[in-house]
Formats: sequence, structure tokens, C-alpha cells
Amino acid sequence: MRAKLERDFDRFKRELPRDFPAHVRETYGIDLTARYLGAVVPHPIGKGSGQLSLNTGQLEDDATAGLAFSVLKTVIAEDETGARAMAAWAIHETKMKVERRAGGTGTGTETGREGWTVTWKGRGWDRPFGDYLALVRAGRDLTRAGRLLVVPSVKYHLPRLTEPFREGEYRYATTQLADAWREPPLLVEKDFSPTLAGDALADALVCFNRLFDAARVVAYGGWDLSDRNLRVLDSYRPLPPSTAPYRPLTGTGNICSGRMILEYARRGCESVQLHTFFQLPLSEYAATHGSRVQRALHALVFHPRDGLIAVMLEREARGELERQGGELRFLDLRAHAHRAG
Ligand SMILES: Cc1cc2nc3c(=O)[nH]c(=O)nc-3n(C[C@H](O)[C@H](O)[C@H](O)COP(=O)(O)O)c2cc1C
Repeated sequence: MRAKLERDFDRFKRELPRDFPAHVRETYGIDLTARYLGAVVPHPIGKGSGQLSLNTGQLEDDATAGLAFSVLKTVIAEDETGARAMAAWAIHETKMKVERRAGGTGTGTETGREGWTVTWKGRGWDRPFGDYLALVRAGRDLTRAGRLLVVPSVKYHLPRLTEPFREGEYRYATTQLADAWREPPLLVEKDFSPTLAGDALADALVCFNRLFDAARVVAYGGWDLSDRNLRVLDSYRPLPPSTAPYRPLTGTGNICSGRMILEYARRGCESVQLHTFFQLPLSEYAATHGSRVQRALHALVFHPRDGLIAVMLEREARGELERQGGELRFLDLRAHAHRAG
């Protein structure tokens, strides 16, 4: 198995097999099937909401690369008059900077604590709502064609105790998305927030997708982010599925290896969403050809030491993951978390 993995890692540097989950199943007896919001996907790796899912070209590239799903950039909810309680989120900012960021003292398991972060001061979708609906329709077509599961993301206003709920915004924005999607169910990531990051009102919130550096006034990721998220997931400890309602979890934050995917999966995540790892300098990927998403998938799945195949085989060797009907299953990592917890 090890020798095969070394060989695959090497030959796939030029090109990943078109249907790499099928290859992984045939060659290693590993079933990568995962779930995102209850939908079955061929493997757990998707793209998180942000600047990499703003247009149809990016979605086409994701489908070609073999990504499991893409979450669209977050749009700001509005009512039929165009009023938006969260208008402060719709600012325009294009320049992103990929930087190294040291951090982390907690639960990280990899050697070396130098991580990556994307520094960027923008926020939500800053173009007309109608343009977003066009993107949703393009995503719907890719989803229907079975090429890529695409899911919109919406920021709705969360009122303080004394304020009313903005039902007009919820109803209008959600109905528009549902109409654009046409056939139910419409899957959606709901971003529910009373304020901007960095505002005093945000102090009491647990937010998963980025941390906030008050000194530099920027959001950031890297090891501090995964340490925090894994710690929160540890304390959440969902009950076994047989006794609790099904709560789908998807993980995000500093996922740059299969080993980190496993850390989220063990804590109950059925899929993961990345942003930063799709933006590294080309010299950081072992693959020599293909888009950044393809090069990232190559490393995440096939790296002989820290790829998903390697870490699942490692768990099997330690007696921590068993074959079912001859196969190791990605979704069983989660079942294992319940037993351990
Ligand atoms: C430039 C940038 C823009 C982002 N925009 C959004 C957004 O609009 N909505 C959202 O829910 N998350 C957004 N995110 C968060 C990412 O989807 C992701 O959860 C987060 O960056 C952690 O993953 P990572 O460590 O792989 O980058 C953004 C992240 C970055 C770096």
C-alpha cells in the first residue's frame, strides 16, 4: 500500500485521475464518500465561501478539478426595496495577500507551526443581488449536471433582544434564491450575525471561520484558527446519531493536509471547506501541473505521509479504524468519534 501510494503521489503530480475517488476505492479499498448538508458527495473536500467562488469561471474550474462542492461568496440579504440591515458588509475590496502566520500552542498534531493566512479587508458580495442570482443559476446547472454541488451563502441580520426580526429581508432574499434554484430542496449556508467582526458587539460570539486580529484590524487564520475550532468541536461532543437529531457538521479552518481533515472528521465533521490552501504560491504544492485546486487535492489526498489515504491507513494499522465489507470508510471516522467521546 505504501509503495503504491508513493508511486501514485509521484505520477499524479502531472495530473490527477479524472475520477480519483474511484481510483482510491479500487486501489486502496478506501471509500471517501462524504456528506455536506445531508447531500452525499464523492469525497469530503470542498471550497469555503469567499473570493474563490465569485464567478462562473471559478465554478467551472472547480468542477473540472473534481472538487466535491463549492459554497458561493456570502451575499447580503435585502428586502424588495433593496434595503439591507447588514449593508456595512457589502464593501468592495479586491486585493488579497497570502502571508505566513506563526501560531498555535494547542491541539495541532503536525510538526512545524508556521501556517498560512489570507489578509483581506473586504466582507460580503458587493455587486447587485440580481448578479448573485445569475451565479446561483449557473451553480444550479452544474449541480443538476452532477458536476459540482454548489450552495449559496447568505448573511441575514440577527437582531438584539430589543429589536424586531427583519422578516422582510429574510423572506425576500430567501424566496429569490429558492426561485433561482427552482426545484427544492435549496441548500443554503446561513450566516446570521448582528454586527461586523471587530465591533464590541461581536465579543460574545463564537465564530468558526476566521479569527480577528484587533491590533492589525484584520481577520486571520492559520494554526490559531484550527486550534480554536478543534477545541470548540471537542467541547461540543455530539451524542451518538441514534439518540440525537442528525446535525450535519462541516469543518473549516487551516486545512492544509489530509491529517488536518482527519482531525475535523474525528470530531464529527462529514466534509471540509478550504479557502487559504487553494491560494498558496505554486512552489508550495508538490504537483507540477494543473490548477491550484487540482494541486491542492493531489496533496490532500495522496501525500504519502500526511494525505488522507496515508492517515486512514495509519489509523487502520493502529486498530483505530476497521474495514467494513473490506473497505475503510471516511464517514466511519465520525462514528469513531462518538465511541471515543
Ligand atoms: C478572502 C476571504 C474571504 C472570505 N469570505 C467569506 C465569506 O464571504 N463568507 C464566509 O462565510 N466565509 C468567508 N471566508 C471564510 C472562508 O470560507 C473559510 O471558512 C476560512 O478562511 C477558513 O478556512 P481556511 O483556513 O482554509 O482559509 C473568507 C475567507 C477569506 C480568506
